[in-house]
Amino acid sequence: MWFTSDNASGAAPEVMAAIARANEGYARSYGADDLMTEVTAELRRLFEAPEAAVYLVATGTIANSLCLALTCPPWGAVFCHQHAHVAEDECGAPEFYTNGAKLVLVPGDHGRMAPAALRDALARTGELGVHSVQRGMVTITNVTEAGTVYTPAEIAALTAEARAHELPCHLDGARFANALAATGATPAEMTWKAGIDLVSFGGTKNGCMGVEAVVIFDPAKAWEFELRRKRGGHLFSKHRYLSAQMAAYLEGGLWLRLAAHANAMAARLAAGMAGMPGVNLRHPVQANILFPEWTAGTHARLEAAGAAYYPFPAPEGREAARLVTSWNTTEADVDGFLTALRG
Ligand SMILES: Cc1ncc(COP(=O)(O)O)c(C=O)c1O
Repeated sequence: MWFTSDNASGAAPEVMAAIARANEGYARSYGADDLMTEVTAELRRLFEAPEAAVYLVATGTIANSLCLALTCPPWGAVFCHQHAHVAEDECGAPEFYTNGAKLVLVPGDHGRMAPAALRDALARTGELGVHSVQRGMVTITNVTEAGTVYTPAEIAALTAEARAHELPCHLDGARFANALAATGATPAEMTWKAGIDLVSFGGTKNGCMGVEAVVIFDPAKAWEFELRRKRGGHLFSKHRYLSAQMAAYLEGGLWLRLAAHANAMAARLAAGMAGMPGVNLRHPVQANILFPEWTAGTHARLEAAGAAYYPFPAPEGREAARLVTSWNTTEADVDGFLTALRG
């Protein structure tokens, strides 16, 4: 009953086997390996973007930070949701890699930026000419930090606000597969067709050991990205191990199958909680993250039953939690948790 995070799960067997296979013999280093050629071709095919530049890095924080640095000048503003991972969970890495760009926090219910709030934030930025931070770029997370999902149309409504100021848009897709599994959208519909310029395409949370792809739809930006990745110390010499993970992850649609399973386990949890006295969900459950609230004293009972998750602040008399399901959550984990919750 381990629901702390999807990165508390190990790597999928297919991914581990691919790493072992990649360990045989010699391979060119620094991303010149044959597997990387396959990964680039496959991601271009999946995104219907034959010209896209594709790179691999080992963490979501560096994927996001390099994307932000590539699209926002040091005197610029990065517009993001008020609870975005880049704002709350990356220890200032986006500010560090952009050389001090300002993060402007945009409100919105259930983890989603409201287009009108983004419009206001954009309008208020840069008003004082040289004295102001200038508008830089917009970054959107899907699946959101609240576990909700933007549809392609909702993404397009936000990127339209950015386009009105000729700003580029990034998608933090640490859980991109879960967002696609939830909506049925294609990778292209969720990104460039909806106005996204570059994507952090997650692998780690959904069955890889540690790999994220950066997909940049304008190849003119490719060389600068390469230089920034190297200068930032994130170009792996034994790159083949990153490539092997991503190749296995994409092969035969494994990435979407794993995400669909994680989403289904979250839906099963949510269905089990529905109607339970004293239990409610703070946000709609649309992918693989849940934010339940229950009466005080429940944490102790769940902990005694062996459940692991992160408690969240709650009002007097209540307790709250964040639960994340993953590619290897079992129905038995879910049902055991629900039994313990029922008491
Ligand atoms: C929305 C989001 N973005 C990015 C990341 C990637 O973070 P990390 O640097 O830990 O791989 C995470 C991980 O928690 C996340 O939830």
